[in-house]
Amino acid sequence: RNVKVLEVSPVGQSKRPDEFFEIRLEYPDWDGWKPGQFVMIRPSGWDLDLIWARPFSICSADENSLTLFIQKVGRGTERITTLKPGDEVAIWGPLGNSFAMEPDTPTLLLAGGIGIAPFRGYVEHHPAPDNVSLFMAHRLPLECYPYNQLSKTVCGSCMLEEQPQDLQGIIEFMREEIKRYAEKNGLILSCGPTPFMKTVQKFANEFGARAQVSLENRMACGVGACLGCVTKDGDDHHIQVCTRGPVFWTDKVKL
Ligand code: FES
Repeated sequence: RNVKVLEVSPVGQSKRPDEFFEIRLEYPDWDGWKPGQFVMIRPSGWDLDLIWARPFSICSADENSLTLFIQKVGRGTERITTLKPGDEVAIWGPLGNSFAMEPDTPTLLLAGGIGIAPFRGYVEHHPAPDNVSLFMAHRLPLECYPYNQLSKTVCGSCMLEEQPQDLQGIIEFMREEIKRYAEKNGLILSCGPTPFMKTVQKFANEFGARAQVSLENRMACGVGACLGCVTKDGDDHHIQVCTRGPVFWTDKVKL
C-alpha cells in the first residue's frame, strides 16, 4: 500500500550532517508491530536502476506515524532522504521476527551505529524499562543518533551507558558487559554492522550468554522470494534472513 511522507529530517550532531535522517510516514493500517521487525519501502517514480525497495528497521511509531532511521549509504537511500512531505512511498510490512522481550530479565541493548534504530521502539514497548540498559558504539562520539534526544525522549528510565572512546575500549567494554549479563542470566540484544555482530557472537559464545543479533543483510524483496539475503544457520543450512530473521539467537546463525 502507499502512505504519505510526513517529514524527513537530518539527525545527530555528526561531522557528516547529511548522513543520518529520520523519516516519518503516515501510519499504515497495521494491527501492530514488534520491535526488531522491518519494512520495505520504495518511493513512487524511482528510476529503473533503483527499482528495488529498501529495508529499514522500524524505529518507532504512534497511532498517526511510523518513524524510520536512515543512513545515507547509496543512491537508493539518498533518494529516500530527498523525499518531501506529501510524497508517497509504497510500504510493505511489518516483516520478519522480533527481539525477545522478558520484562523481569536484566536486558542489555548493544547498538553499533545505525543499529540503534530498532532499540528506540524496543524501549518504548518494554513494560519495565528500568531493567534495560543501552550501549551505543559509534565511530565518533555523537555521530549517529542524537545522544541527548535519545536519553530524554526514548530511554525514559532506561540507562544510557557511557561509551569508551576507542575501538579497543569498546571491545573490552562489550566483553565485560556480556560476561556480566551472562553471569546473571540476562538477555543481550544487538544490532549493527557485521563485525559488531561477530564480536557480540564471539563473546556470547565464550560466556554462554543468551544473546540475539539482528542482521542487516542486503534485501530486495523482504518476503523470501529473491534469495538475496541468504545466510547459514547453526547447522549450515541456508536460510533467508528476511523471513527467518532478521533476529537470531547467536548460537543459531553463522556470521
Ligand atoms: Fe528476498 Fe530475503 S530479501 S529472500
